[in-house]
Amino acid sequence: MKPTRALAIAFGALLLTWVAQAAVGYLQVGRLEPVLNEETNLTVPPVPSGLAHTGARVFASQGCLECHSLSARGPKDSADLTRGWGQRRSVARDYLFRDPAMLGTARIGPDLSNIGARMPEGDKLMQHLYDPRLLKKNSTCPTHPWLFVKKPAGPKAEPDALQVSPDGWHQLLPSYHAKALVAYLQSLNANYALPEAPLK
Ligand code: HEC
Repeated sequence: MKPTRALAIAFGALLLTWVAQAAVGYLQVGRLEPVLNEETNLTVPPVPSGLAHTGARVFASQGCLECHSLSARGPKDSADLTRGWGQRRSVARDYLFRDPAMLGTARIGPDLSNIGARMPEGDKLMQHLYDPRLLKKNSTCPTHPWLFVKKPAGPKAEPDALQVSPDGWHQLLPSYHAKALVAYLQSLNANYALPEAPLK
């Protein structure tokens, strides 16, 4: 084979891969936009708050993604929806304002793409972060006590102190990182319909 022909074939193969990977990918999801939800008259997906955005970084830095995915699969490929992890599968549009878009693959713990709808209460999420065994005796989710500051309990509990005390003498105050992480978890709420993924 002539060297020019071999080069042309190699270049063609590279071009084909680029078209398949980059160009088709861009055409499929590159120009997605938020849509108006006619029921609520709000555009979806909602834009997460600045605090929630910081919380996404805390989620990544604490290694939550090693055990929890952030994308629910549809009824055809999995039992995610019957397990109660969401009302519909996650789609590319859900991640428009998520930067970085973390999907995750690990399923040691439940999928958290809809945890803001499943566990909306901030205090419960805080307690879970401090020690998951406070809410569920046999939970195997790890504790994250370093996200809290332990302070002697005064005559009056501080307003954002957890409703549990580690020993009766101390109160637990969430750090900025704990507050950001909880804001992020609360923002993970996919209970809105999208044209390509209606609620079940
Ligand atoms: C070593 C694996 C592991 C890591 C790391 C981990 N988790 Fe978990 N998590 C689990 C398991 C297993 C469960 C299920 C047991 C339970 O319900 O508590 C769980 C449950 C949960 C739940 C309750 C989910 C539900 O549907 O009831 C939340 C919320 C949660 N984890 C948040 C986190 C966050 C936030 C982080 C990071 C700060 C984290 N987890 C890190 C394993 C892990």
